[in-house]
Amino acid sequence: MPLTFDDLLTRARSLVRDGHRAVLGIAGSPGAGKSTLAEQLVRALNGAGEPWVAHVPMDGFHLADAELARLGRLDRKGAPDTFDAAGYAALLRRLREEYAADGDGETVYAPGFERVLEQPLAGAIPVPPTARLVVTEGNYLLLGTGAWARVRPQLDEVWFCDLDDGERIRRLVARHEEFGKDHAAAVAWVLGTDQRNADLVAATRAHADLLVPATAVPPGSAAAG
Ligand SMILES: Nc1ncnc2c1ncn2[C@@H]1O[C@H](COP(=O)(O)OP(=O)(O)OP(=O)(O)O)[C@@H](O)[C@H]1O
Ligand SMILES: [Mg+2]
Repeated sequence: MPLTFDDLLTRARSLVRDGHRAVLGIAGSPGAGKSTLAEQLVRALNGAGEPWVAHVPMDGFHLADAELARLGRLDRKGAPDTFDAAGYAALLRRLREEYAADGDGETVYAPGFERVLEQPLAGAIPVPPTARLVVTEGNYLLLGTGAWARVRPQLDEVWFCDLDDGERIRRLVARHEEFGKDHAAAVAWVLGTDQRNADLVAATRAHADLLVPATAVPPGSAAAG
């Protein structure tokens, strides 16, 4: 039986146990559908009631352009060493540790990524004390190098968005065009900078707890980051 979206909802719910805040990671190559899957899960699990699931993207830990310029890394924005990996791991740890079963803990603020400015934005994502499950998603959750190795121990499970490269590249080019690049520039970016990062991510696929085929995910809004 192919994996369905309902199977994913059941599995995500099963991670949540008494007295503990669960953190589910979603990894995958650029454009593989991580943000869409996370948004769909959070929306379906929260339903119309009091939100108990929060979405915290790894993207908020992009270093700012000014710092990338200082480090001489602006031309490879998106590579593993252009993020604050240690800060991300520390936030995940804090999210787990500060959960209080009586809902009396404090709101934890995560940074977001502002798509128009293409810069991180502190304090953009509130995780309320009532959040029992955090869904976090990004390229490098399963990377074993440097401070990235501190991320996996903070996650209950990591799922991997499994999308064939042809379709993944087609979607990614379309999204870059949507955000203002012309076709040639979009293709050059996707096959250059993005592809080097995609290869690094693809090498971590075997470490995932679950491979999620694109067929299990209902299409999301084009606003997914
Ligand atoms: N099931 C789907 N069917 C069709 N298009 C989809 C589907 N899921 C996602 N997309 C589209 O594919 C593109 C990439 O999806 P998404 O932004 O979720 O990927 P991502 O892995 O978060 O990418 P990034 O690594 O750049 O953050 C988006 O334009 C999105 O609308
Ligand atoms: Mg995304």
